[in-house]
Amino acid sequence: MKQEVHDWASDLAALYQQVWVRLVRGIGDRHAPSRHPTLATVTTDGRPRARTVVLRSVDPRAGTLEIHTDLRSAKVEELRASPFAALHVWDPSAHLQTRIEADLTIMTGTSVSETWSRLTDTTRSSYGVTPPPGRSIADSLDYVKTADPTAFAVLQLRVSAIDALHLGAHHRRARFDRESDWQGQWLAP
Ligand SMILES: Cc1cc2nc3c(=O)[nH]c(=O)nc-3n(C[C@H](O)[C@H](O)[C@H](O)COP(=O)(O)O)c2cc1C
Repeated sequence: MKQEVHDWASDLAALYQQVWVRLVRGIGDRHAPSRHPTLATVTTDGRPRARTVVLRSVDPRAGTLEIHTDLRSAKVEELRASPFAALHVWDPSAHLQTRIEADLTIMTGTSVSETWSRLTDTTRSSYGVTPPPGRSIADSLDYVKTADPTAFAVLQLRVSAIDALHLGAHHRRARFDRESDWQGQWLAP
């Protein structure tokens, strides 16, 4: 058998742990692949929609993640209608694709005021563009960015399942479900 580079990939518990280690890395390291996952939602007419976001918070014990967004963005409307999301990360140095399924809660107002208070002015100005995100404008820069706490939303993802695919000398794929206490199940890749 060919030598495997990542020992953790051949053990369910170690693979599960590695998924979370790599997610946590995105919080402190701007260059970590998990810093910029792809968030997918379902539109109100049932179509998939994906976009890059910044991963803002990770809690491996609780199995939760947080993303910040503008309350008036299309994704929030989509998530109100269908409060489920998928998150995708391809981590090239780990040869690891992580696909997450999550139940989603939209937090706003006083419940996020503490988080808002910790943001820098530059970051705050990402929430509160005029006109609202996605609105047509006559020219490319016909908008103003103003920090508006009422436009700030925290998307809290409660992970329900993780599909991990490791590409090695032998590919390995596993699914971990909250329902089965993250025990893990090998799948054909
Ligand atoms: C590197 C990068 C990071 C981004 N981070 C965020 C983010 O954390 N939150 C967010 O709402 N949009 C973020 N965006 C913008 C989204 O990809 C998207 O264009 C915007 O949120 C509008 O999406 P929507 O119309 O589907 O709601 C980011 C884009 C890039 C390229």
